[in-house]
Amino acid sequence: MNGSAGRAGLDPIETASRDELQALQLQRLRWSLKRAYDNVPHYKKKFDAAGVHPDDLKTLSDLARFPFTTKADLRETYPYGLFASPMRDIVRVHASSGTTGKPTVVGYTQNDVSTWADLMARSLRAAGCSADDIILNSYGYGLFTGGLGAHNGGERLGATVIPMSGGQTEKQAQLIQDFRPTVLMSTPSYALTIADELARQGCAPTKTSLRVGVFGAEPWTNEMRREIEERFAIDAVDIYGLSEVMGPGVACECVETKDGPHIWEDHFYPEIVDPDTGAVLPDGSEGELVFTSLTKEALPIIRYRTRDLTRLMPGTARSMRRMSKITGRTDDMLIIRGVNVFPTQIEEILLRNPHLCAHYQILVTREHNLDEMDVFVELQPDDAPAIEIEQREGIGRDVAQHIKSLVGVSARIHVVDPENIERTVVGKAKRVVDKRPK
Ligand code: DLL
Repeated sequence: MNGSAGRAGLDPIETASRDELQALQLQRLRWSLKRAYDNVPHYKKKFDAAGVHPDDLKTLSDLARFPFTTKADLRETYPYGLFASPMRDIVRVHASSGTTGKPTVVGYTQNDVSTWADLMARSLRAAGCSADDIILNSYGYGLFTGGLGAHNGGERLGATVIPMSGGQTEKQAQLIQDFRPTVLMSTPSYALTIADELARQGCAPTKTSLRVGVFGAEPWTNEMRREIEERFAIDAVDIYGLSEVMGPGVACECVETKDGPHIWEDHFYPEIVDPDTGAVLPDGSEGELVFTSLTKEALPIIRYRTRDLTRLMPGTARSMRRMSKITGRTDDMLIIRGVNVFPTQIEEILLRNPHLCAHYQILVTREHNLDEMDVFVELQPDDAPAIEIEQREGIGRDVAQHIKSLVGVSARIHVVDPENIERTVVGKAKRVVDKRPK
């Protein structure tokens, strides 16, 4: 792919017309449906039950007639039942732990791993990286797709990759000072943990060699982007992906616009559906993101319900469509005394206060049959020593008022000292602890 890269180093398809792209999508979609139907008994059964056949796909919108795939399909066929290739052609598996029961397992052929590296390299290029960069890869290596996925993309781009993985925060901060990486790849919450550690070691995070961060794997707001950009003096770019569809690099923002990740539509066909009815919604409407893979051999995934809530928007820096920042997951939504609340709404309000930082956690309990919400949030490490109890209470009241008027729920705000809220090292920040009886 790099060899054939065209204008300004981009793949020609990145700037192709919509017509050209849609023609390619239709051809690839037919291939993918047929591959699933012919090689995976589970898909054949579901298509037959819905009365559809891959030949029924005449236009892209015909996809709406095909059944959805959910995490339950992966669980039911655990571990390898959705694979469309024989095991001798599978060169890698990854798995996600999931909160209950068996993990979901995904597999890749040699071609799949190569396409993934290409798309991850394309993502890094969009984020403003090149072969001249040194990347500190702090996504976890192992069954999680983040570490190896990002790693192979960095190498494909020709950059230097430091395979640090998550954890060992002291060492992360030390390596930033010694190895002088120019790019940091990690979850956005872990980036802030690294910034705190750098400061603790007496190194100003604004003064490091870093110039770009490529952050994803968990929801984060533009307010959090601003905080990270200011703390490190870098550009913070949003990268999106999920294991079932590939891993990191399904979509990535362009550094010059930072206006939502461009979906690599030549490999993944996106739809937005109403989470309750499953009806396909027009571009621009908020709903659940659904993906169909167009080129994957080992695990063709048909209309996968991501549970991520977002909108599709027209392309800007690339002709492929963008998704807006994920506002939450359908399973992340809290219902507090009947009001729907997403953690990102709370994050947005907290980070409007310059003394607060993005280390926060929401605790939900039920007292006397009524839902109660407590929000714990840390002070900025530099400000904390100077902020007295009364001022903290004032900040708490102010935030509570904004949450009440903007989100419509009452919350008790606890403004706490730095390092008081649980840090997840390898994985994703745990934003919600829901202790209500099930
Ligand atoms: O998190 C893949 C990944 C690794 C993406 C590194 C980006 C960087 P999973 O563990 O399968 O895969 O989790 C996928 O994480 O459905 C979203 O809910 C969430 N997620 C991933 N990227 C973003 C993002 C990886 N940029 C799930 N913004 C997805 C918001 C994200 N949520």
